[in-house]
Amino acid sequence: MTLDADVFRTEHRLITVQQHILQEQKRFPGASGEFSWLLSGITLATKMIQAKVRRAGLSDILGTHGETNVQGEVQQKLDVYANEVLAHCLSVRESIGVLASEENEQPIMVHNNSPAANYAVVFDPLDGSSNIDVNVSVGTTFSILRRPEGASLDDHESWLLQPGRKQIAAGYVVYGSSTILVYSVGNGVHGFTLDPAVGAYVLSHPNMRMPEQGKYYSVNEAYRDTFPPRYGEYIDRLRHGALGHRYASRYIGSMVADFHRTLLKGGVFLYPPTTDRPEGKLRLLYEANPVAFLAEQAGGKALDGTRCVLDVQPSSIHQRTPLVVGSRVELAEFERIAAV
Ligand code: AHG
Ligand code: MN
Ligand code: MN
Repeated sequence: MTLDADVFRTEHRLITVQQHILQEQKRFPGASGEFSWLLSGITLATKMIQAKVRRAGLSDILGTHGETNVQGEVQQKLDVYANEVLAHCLSVRESIGVLASEENEQPIMVHNNSPAANYAVVFDPLDGSSNIDVNVSVGTTFSILRRPEGASLDDHESWLLQPGRKQIAAGYVVYGSSTILVYSVGNGVHGFTLDPAVGAYVLSHPNMRMPEQGKYYSVNEAYRDTFPPRYGEYIDRLRHGALGHRYASRYIGSMVADFHRTLLKGGVFLYPPTTDRPEGKLRLLYEANPVAFLAEQAGGKALDGTRCVLDVQPSSIHQRTPLVVGSRVELAEFERIAAV
């Protein structure tokens, strides 16, 4: 039998997310294999979620679950499924002491104060639930924090309530026209596309950099008259060419997908405060912090309207925040005219 040289060469170039993580964890002296084992819980869970999403119209998984979550939002069946899968896959990782999810009012304690448990994982199991039933992209976001120096094993609040700057890894998966996982451990941003033929996330977007400036702004403009006026003025400046060209708009309604486009194409995504939600809608720990971490790692920026999102000290796990995230040029303009 002769070896097909082209296949051999191609396969040698292929870098899976597991290989990549093994390389990256050298940045965590003493973490041995525990960090890659932890992240493999996320990659496994998101593969299971994407399998369900891909068959959504064929199985009995569309529609509401009949409950509301801690945020008072109606849970979709896929919200519940995604939450259970992530909680299951992560709770068997010995290095994790606590999990916090959008769908659970209280954090989930795991491993009973074991000294081997050094990490907290915070996640939005399914972002963009309103888009599930209409075949539009949804996603999962996650953030990983280390047990703070000196924190006791059972003081999980102090593990979770750390500013986003302290994240040791963060990322998301978009279940879109393909499934893509984007993550960072503070050493650049890397994207992996799921190859459905082999069931592996394969490096497709190494060292992602957000363009310095983009063509789109992304905001739910229907609420515009309920935003603080400075947000409307900022949007008008983008529309009227103050940054050199007239902007077009794109808004999916799944933050993770809107952010993914912004990461690749540049521009700005905003979820401002509104009259009904003066604190904004998005959650600081598991929505804003992961994308803020990735934005900064890719050369962009994220503000809560005034401060860098990553510098905000959280006071509760489901805390909300306004969010303005995107390219350097658009964020500089926001800071110049709207950040007060
Ligand atoms: P989730 O489905 O996890 O509750 O998040 C939905 C969020 C976010 O993904 C999106 O940016 C925003 O809600 C859309 O809200 P509006 O419909 O108010 O624009
Ligand atoms: Mn969400
Ligand atoms: Mn959600």
